[in-house]
Amino acid sequence: MTNSAVQEEFLRSFHAVRPAVTAEAFGRGRGPDGRSSYELLRDRVAGHRRVLDLGCGDGLLLELLARDGGRELAGVDLSPQSLALARRRPGLGAARLHIGRAQELPFADGSFDACVSHLALMLMGDIEQVAAEVARVLVPGGVLACVMGGGAVGGEAYERFVRLLRRAGEESATRIPALGDGRVRGREGLEEVLRPVGFGEVEWETVPIDIGGTLEQVWECVSGLYDLAPMEARTVARLRQDFLAEVTDLLTPEGTVPCGFKVRLASARLVRLV
Ligand SMILES: C[S@@+](CC[C@H](N)C(=O)[O-])C[C@H]1O[C@@H](n2cnc3c(N)ncnc32)[C@H](O)[C@@H]1O
Repeated sequence: MTNSAVQEEFLRSFHAVRPAVTAEAFGRGRGPDGRSSYELLRDRVAGHRRVLDLGCGDGLLLELLARDGGRELAGVDLSPQSLALARRRPGLGAARLHIGRAQELPFADGSFDACVSHLALMLMGDIEQVAAEVARVLVPGGVLACVMGGGAVGGEAYERFVRLLRRAGEESATRIPALGDGRVRGREGLEEVLRPVGFGEVEWETVPIDIGGTLEQVWECVSGLYDLAPMEARTVARLRQDFLAEVTDLLTPEGTVPCGFKVRLASARLVRLV
């Protein structure tokens, strides 16, 4: 099995059990101006009619895009279970939703004006092939806009969780496969991948997203990370206990804890056919 095949098999089995985990965690997350990371992406492609979502999961972003009306929408995802949820969304009755790989898009050349991807591009192997496929299905002048994970905001619950997770991971015998191509998590690396297939300069922004809430809500979010999947139940139970103890000093009088996660919002325009 190739590395990508191993990664994709892991993602498929993970999302078979947790098909909506990202939307559950980030759907209620808010940036400084009150928008979620999904809304940031929606706004990046405002005015684009034919939009493809790469790694669309349960379709939360596509549904937001559908609300603007008059759009032709499509989504691709490895997970049949996530796509089954997307198909149930009332706004997505006409969307073309395909089970498959972003490396082999089942669409004709120049079929889209924009391509979006929320917390998914950074998980994809064979990234040059993904970039080539995106360039192929976009029209010249089309836009790729994506949100990538950028780590913890200092001093808040997510940072503390990551520290505890690292410790728990060291004690755990099994690890998840390394996912995706790290280059796309940085502006220069993303440009290195996109330029050869005809994209211009990458616009890059870092936005803190607060996925804070009650202790239980925050635990639900952070425990949805892929890294917990291979851990034994007792390791997860201890991690939970340690985490809840670790963040009690962050509790506000309203009974919530702040949990900041940085996202990288990146976009680039297809400037030439290669
Ligand atoms: C973290 S989830 C994000 C889901 C959704 N975009 C969201 O934010 O709610 C990543 C998604 O990307 C999908 N994915 C990862 N690699 C993929 C690939 N090579 N082709 C298609 N989908 C992929 C996974 O199956 C998963 O549904």
